[in-house]
Amino acid sequence: MKGARRPVIIDADPGLGFPWADVDDNLAVALALAHEELDVRLISVVAGNTPAPEGAASISETVAKLDRSVPVALGAQKPLVKPFVSGRELLAERVKGQAGENRPESARNPPALPEHLPSALSAQIELLESSRERPDMVCLGPLTNLATLARERPDLLLRLGSVVIMGGAIDHPGNVTPAAEFNIWIDPEAAGIVFAAPVPKILVALDVTTSVEIAQAEVENALCGGSPAAQYLVEGVRSWTGIWRSARGAASFVPHDPVALSYLIDPTLFESEPMRVVVDRDTGRTCGEREPSSDLQVARRIDAARFKRLFLAALSRIAGAGSADEARD
Ligand code: RIB
Ligand code: CA
Repeated sequence: MKGARRPVIIDADPGLGFPWADVDDNLAVALALAHEELDVRLISVVAGNTPAPEGAASISETVAKLDRSVPVALGAQKPLVKPFVSGRELLAERVKGQAGENRPESARNPPALPEHLPSALSAQIELLESSRERPDMVCLGPLTNLATLARERPDLLLRLGSVVIMGGAIDHPGNVTPAAEFNIWIDPEAAGIVFAAPVPKILVALDVTTSVEIAQAEVENALCGGSPAAQYLVEGVRSWTGIWRSARGAASFVPHDPVALSYLIDPTLFESEPMRVVVDRDTGRTCGEREPSSDLQVARRIDAARFKRLFLAALSRIAGAGSADEARD
């Protein structure tokens, strides 16, 4: 008999379908939807890899391609304090020239923004007020939406089971500056609010995510020849890895967000410890020190081989399925 399904809210900054945008949020949502034990109740979008409307268009397309009907809500269009600059703009500036082309391969018509999306705040409030169980929340982008909820309705934080956060770099270089990881760097004020929130938190930082690398060929092997959803995902991965093949000679990528999401599927993949993590508001640096009483668990290691088997098996199920419903394990 299948166990009880866990209600989950995914807060993300998707980019699949837009040039120079990371596709890992979309892959994390696909991973979640391919796992029966996760009941994805809401996907709220935050400005990050792309402007929020683009992100909402991207993830709405992903949900439709996977033949699912998960509600999507449109969240913060900019960080709490800093001006907004999208991850895809930053990457294009950094890589252009190296990539030898002005646009990633397989540039395609971007997805259209659905009309009449609810706001992330109203959708999260409605869900948390009405849910009988305590949903877990997975934050895969800047923490602006959750910080806004914490400010507007701190009482509802107690309705969350736990919060899994992809972000930060503890004993590892940053990826947007040498000191800072993108999700934290772009909204350090929000990160400070969320790290202090009275809810069990798990931080999956670059220290752990960068120990996993997925080759384009591995994804193609898992998805090729499969369902229309599989073809859609493999085209997105090709576009993303095409940038890195041109820029650094390796058609591979780090699945930051699928790694973080996998904590909800199998926490035994990770070794973690309670830490106090402080965010430097000026640099976005995240400094951590062991603190046994902290409600923030920081992932320190992952079984990368086991994670890859779990991730690629989920993609294979999607490839072999007519819909994500059939892809669930
Ligand atoms: O630094 C990696 C993180 O920034 C990932 O969540 C990626 O999607 C971008 O949001
Ligand atoms: Ca992300």
